[in-house]
Amino acid sequence: MDISTLRMITFIWINIAFLVFITMFYITAPFGRHSSEKWGKTINNKLGWFIMELPSFLIMLYYLCVGSRSFQSYAWILFVCWLLHYFNRVFVYPVRIKATQKKIPLFIVTTAILFNCMNAWLNGYYLAELAPVNKYDLLWLTSSHFIIGALLFISGMFINLRSDNILIDLRKPGETGYKIPKDFLFEYIASPNLFGEIIEWTGFAIMAWNLPAASFAIWTFANLVPRAKNHYDWNHQHLKDYPKKRKVIFPFIY
Ligand SMILES: NC(=O)c1ccc[n+]([C@@H]2O[C@H](COP(=O)([O-])OP(=O)(O)OC[C@H]3O[C@@H](n4cnc5c(N)ncnc54)[C@H](OP(=O)(O)O)[C@@H]3O)[C@@H](O)[C@H]2O)c1
Repeated sequence: MDISTLRMITFIWINIAFLVFITMFYITAPFGRHSSEKWGKTINNKLGWFIMELPSFLIMLYYLCVGSRSFQSYAWILFVCWLLHYFNRVFVYPVRIKATQKKIPLFIVTTAILFNCMNAWLNGYYLAELAPVNKYDLLWLTSSHFIIGALLFISGMFINLRSDNILIDLRKPGETGYKIPKDFLFEYIASPNLFGEIIEWTGFAIMAWNLPAASFAIWTFANLVPRAKNHYDWNHQHLKDYPKKRKVIFPFIY
């Protein structure tokens, strides 16, 4: 496939993200606290997370290993960033979350697999086969967009991991309910974990400076801003004395 075809597919993919962004404010994705049996057959939550995130890890690993350009430049750094994030999401996060009776609909698992395959394919194929070799040369490593992007990526990952850890630690072994999280960015927003993930992939896109990476950052925003609003509304409805001053996802803004 040539670069113009990949570009066209990516533009179509970005347009779908805009539709999803609007739709998700009206239809709540039924997993986690919003889990629902109305969406058909369900499977174990931990297994669901593992299965739906695994393709993203494997596809990028495949392109890193077999791609003709993966090691001809410093593009491998971008692969490593991606793989680090997904190593946690596939092999650590599902093990750490507390098991509850809530299950995840197969529908969500299936759509997430398609979503992850598409994003990993666009990014992996571009970096491994299409990116000009001089795009990720030594100069790139000293460019301002690499440095700013890398700092954002690292900060976002830190915020995402720390916030997920705080949430996971709210439950003692055997507990299944919900408590009001305190400390860190939870004092300002309902979903610092989702905020961190948006910062992370925005940083990745700035670092990589290519269309597939930008499309993934746009998709992350499109998925996570409505999800944070769903979490925020749920918290106000179900958690007594949930602080009113907290915003949805962007501190002091929204
Ligand atoms: N890139 C993407 O498009 C994308 C899409 C979705 C998610 N993600 C990432 O996946 C991770 C999980 O997302 P999520 O929306 O499922 O996160 P979440 O609702 O905040 O839940 C995270 C974990 O903490 C538990 N938890 C949340 N609030 C709690 C509370 N008040 N008291 C006790 N336990 C609580 C949840 O349990 P329950 O499961 O029982 O509610 C779950 O195990 C995040 O890091 C997010 O950034 C990424």
